[in-house]
Amino acid sequence: MKSLRDLGVGRQKSEGGARLAEPNEGSLKIMKKIEAVIQPFKLDEVKEALKSIGIDGMTISDVRGHGRQKGHKEIYRGQEYNVDLLPKVKVEMVVSESRCPEVLRTLATAARTGKIGDGKIFVYEVAEAIRIRNDDRGESAL
Ligand SMILES: Nc1ncnc2c1ncn2[C@@H]1O[C@H](COP(=O)(O)OP(=O)(O)OP(=O)(O)O)[C@@H](O)[C@H]1O
Ligand SMILES: [Mg+2]
Repeated sequence: MKSLRDLGVGRQKSEGGARLAEPNEGSLKIMKKIEAVIQPFKLDEVKEALKSIGIDGMTISDVRGHGRQKGHKEIYRGQEYNVDLLPKVKVEMVVSESRCPEVLRTLATAARTGKIGDGKIFVYEVAEAIRIRNDDRGESAL
């Protein structure tokens, strides 16, 4: 499997020669992407909780999905319909690895009602982040 360095992530020109500044130096620090699918009515509470611990950047989308109950049956005009995809909200954010546990705790606590369908959180490793305006890289770009 290719390493992050093979892919040119976090490369530094200091290897084998004079040390030259690289815009993405320092980006070998691991960043995590947290993707949470939550109940739409919990979005404001989740946003407030994340703001209170200093999380700035995030992406929100309206999505549809189902978990292991595969949606639920709904009655409409006396007919039973199988509503297999329910409206959910997806919250995505990239954070430093060191902040990840705190963000996960905060997010889950704010999104939890204890009932089925509360949602799910997935965590990924992120290879690079770039602030387009000034080419900040890695954690500096978050
Ligand atoms: N394995 C999965 N992969 C991708 N998305 C998922 C997965 N499981 C759940 N989701 C998304 O999360 C939403 C909420 O899932 P949900 O909370 O119902 O999960 P669950 O496993 O059924 O747990 P619960 O028993 O608490 O309902 C789904 O509507 C779907 O959008
Ligand atoms: Mg479910």
